[in-house]
Amino acid sequence: MSHLLVTGGAGFIGANFVHYWRARHPDDTVTVLDALTYAGNRASLAGANAVDFVEGDIRDTALVETLLRDRGIDRIVHFAAESHVDRSIHGPAAFIDTNIIGTMSLLTAARSVWLAGDGSPHRFHHVSTDEVYGSLGAEDPPFSESTAYAPNSPYSASKAASDHLVRAWHHTYGLEVTTTNCSNNYGPYQFPEKLIPLFLINALHGRPLPIYGDGMQIRDWLHVEDHCRGIEAALLRGRPGEVYNIGGGAEMPNIAVIDTLCSAVDAAFVGDPTLAARFPDAPAASGKPTSRLKTSVSDRPGHDRRYAIDERKARAELGYAPARDFATGFAATLNWYLDNEGWWRGVLDGSYRTWVETNYAAR
Ligand code: NAD
Ligand code: DAU
Repeated sequence: MSHLLVTGGAGFIGANFVHYWRARHPDDTVTVLDALTYAGNRASLAGANAVDFVEGDIRDTALVETLLRDRGIDRIVHFAAESHVDRSIHGPAAFIDTNIIGTMSLLTAARSVWLAGDGSPHRFHHVSTDEVYGSLGAEDPPFSESTAYAPNSPYSASKAASDHLVRAWHHTYGLEVTTTNCSNNYGPYQFPEKLIPLFLINALHGRPLPIYGDGMQIRDWLHVEDHCRGIEAALLRGRPGEVYNIGGGAEMPNIAVIDTLCSAVDAAFVGDPTLAARFPDAPAASGKPTSRLKTSVSDRPGHDRRYAIDERKARAELGYAPARDFATGFAATLNWYLDNEGWWRGVLDGSYRTWVETNYAAR
């Protein structure tokens, strides 16, 4: 039995991880620490049993120390971050504060509590990104764990710095750490600023689908549940001090993702006549192709051209393999957004900020 602290557990991947972990490790205790920034959503944790939610900031070292000590926490799974590249271009300071200073604060707390104790087993698992490796050319080999760091955005630079801090706390102080660097996630509960949920919701409203530049940037798409499976494998079988790359084995140019999305929305409206009444502004509601919403806009500054993951180490050492291909994962994701309109409407109208007060007011 383990006691987990999940930072950023009200965000997209963190919330999926909490649901995943609760279902598979019912005897463990789970505490979520989340500052509820714009990206934090308590509604994403609805239905996750026996999760203790603490609203707080990872930069509050004293708070983290108290949580670790009082609850006997022996594993930290660190998701909390500013995560959106576009936001980092407009306001890098928050990325430095949360991703770098915040990670140092957690490491400081973990060191002071865990390494001052009786030396019992512990684990600090750091969730990072393939963006730290920079941008690949069309013919370059995929990123491996020994690829040199070359971050290009304020976001990826801040994540790279946090990765180095985690490494240093292991080598200098002996903290037992693992890091996973993974590719683009998609799935339930993703904030609609990222490509897939933004475009799905825009398609349902008949709004433009803004394609940056030529749309030929390549990403490796990973269903969030496969990412959770990879983190679980690293927690249970990863060697302290090691880094593992996690990918989805689904390298695709953005335009191919967008075309898949447009066709899938069209097919959903054909298959379910009630969608036309629910989303009358969608082109598909009047039999027109969703693809007519595709709109070219100026490119993201410093836009990385291609990411790709060499995950042989995770496969060999952790037994990791993604269970879903993109077609299956995307179909499930579209269904989730159609079935959970209340979740994303709450984000669009801002009511997700008061979800707890609204849903638990009478209790
Ligand atoms: P997200 O933006 O959806 O969620 C981030 C969460 O962190 C939110 O709940 C937010 O409230 C919380 N948070 C922010 N600052 C905090 C602070 N100072 N203290 C406590 N909580 C704070 O992010 P995500 O997409 O779920 O990403 C989670 C992690 O995975 C991040 O570290 C990100 O860099 C990494 N990652 C994401 C992807 C992806 O495709 N989304 C891919 C690779 C790696
Ligand atoms: O690679 C892992 C990273 O994936 C994570 O570390 C980040 O936290 C996560 O946000 C994601 O970064 P990206 O920048 O790749 O994701 P985003 O969804 O913002 O964009 C995906 C691609 O789609 C990218 O090439 C930019 C493009 N795009 C995005 C948006 C929001 C568009 O063309 N139009 C858009 O409106």
